[in-house]
Amino acid sequence: MHIYNIKKDFPILDRKIGEKSLIYLDNAATTQKPLQVLNAMEDYNKKFNGNPHRGAHYLSVMATEVYEGARDKVRNFIGAKKSKEIIFTKNATEALNLIAFSYGMNFIDKEDEIVVLISEHHSNILPWQMIASAKGAVLKYIYLKEDGTLSLDEVKSKITNRTKLVSLAQMSNVLGVINPVKEVAQYAHSKGAVVVVDGAQSVPHMKVDVTDLDADFLVFSAHKMLGPMGIGVLYGKEEILDKMPPFLRGGDMIEYVTEQSSTFAELPFKFEAGTQNVEGAVGLSAAIDYINNIGMEEITKTEKEITAYALSRLAEVPYVTIYGPTSTEQKGGIISFNIEGVHPHDVSSIVDAYGVAIRAGHHCAQPLMKYLNIPASCRASFYFYNTKEEIDKFIESIEGVRKWLGYGTA
Ligand SMILES: Cc1ncc(COP(=O)(O)O)c(C=O)c1O
Repeated sequence: MHIYNIKKDFPILDRKIGEKSLIYLDNAATTQKPLQVLNAMEDYNKKFNGNPHRGAHYLSVMATEVYEGARDKVRNFIGAKKSKEIIFTKNATEALNLIAFSYGMNFIDKEDEIVVLISEHHSNILPWQMIASAKGAVLKYIYLKEDGTLSLDEVKSKITNRTKLVSLAQMSNVLGVINPVKEVAQYAHSKGAVVVVDGAQSVPHMKVDVTDLDADFLVFSAHKMLGPMGIGVLYGKEEILDKMPPFLRGGDMIEYVTEQSSTFAELPFKFEAGTQNVEGAVGLSAAIDYINNIGMEEITKTEKEITAYALSRLAEVPYVTIYGPTSTEQKGGIISFNIEGVHPHDVSSIVDAYGVAIRAGHHCAQPLMKYLNIPASCRASFYFYNTKEEIDKFIESIEGVRKWLGYGTA
């Protein structure tokens, strides 16, 4: 369990919703920020705010230093070989679009295949639909086993010699399934495809090493790992990024501009057009420090304990169906479920009256919902600051839902 009272670092977790203490179980949507992150951003704005890479004056130099310092920190955090392989974006979605518009538009051709999982977030589907439609390529889906996990046989039947790109989430934002990305990458590489890893749900919760995974690209968002909204990361192997054209064009990403043409800056600046989110980078850097201070292993372990406890408690509640694995072997801290006879939006509104924040809807994964044959689900998602006591209150609120709607106890 927790090494120290982590909650004191998160002022928002101390607030009430009406009369009830907040129980925040919507961490897959966005996480809360500790004082260390909030203070780092405030401190930057009070002391060092300037436009990086542009000026010789003190504030610009300092802004450059903290921004590039954040890039080095991210490199180290995900085990990338070089800092120039780290591109700051707005979020994971923009990073996926960057890959699609720059790599996809230029290196995927007619009848080539793009392969994704049926469980992907819309952000990892729509960019590939766009490429398939623009280039005449084929978008193929890998389907899941009954428990939501991946079958390597199915992977091997979908990835072929025509496959140019495989893009998959390391952790599903609906089922919490942790996918065997390393094995998929190995197989995809044997067929000559590049591999994009959507780390939006994995990077905040488990050790992710791009070199060990041999991922060609990895994307994630700061706001799901204690950092601010508005900054995300694209990691790409240098040799691939080097041959990709810029995604956005304008200031800061050029080498030389004439009336009719331009040459572009080196990596990573080629992909960072316009003034960047330095304050966000400072927040992300502080978030990484915070995570490293606790230790990623400790975070993963704590979340596994909480998830196992929540799964066992939820399984005891009548009328509840859980989607995805019911053990934590291949699952992170995300549980999707439904209560018989109650729409997920009603569940979410009712438990909100207990101060419990969960998500309801399609979770930006409509193809998966269709595959599971459900219109929507409820989703509880945890972070290391959640406790078993909170899970107890969450279960109490779930037990109250059908009674609230007048179903009685039967
Ligand atoms: C698996 C996955 N991929 C991508 C995204 C998109 O993240 P963002 O909205 O920060 O771009 C999310 C957000 O929920 C996600 O869960």
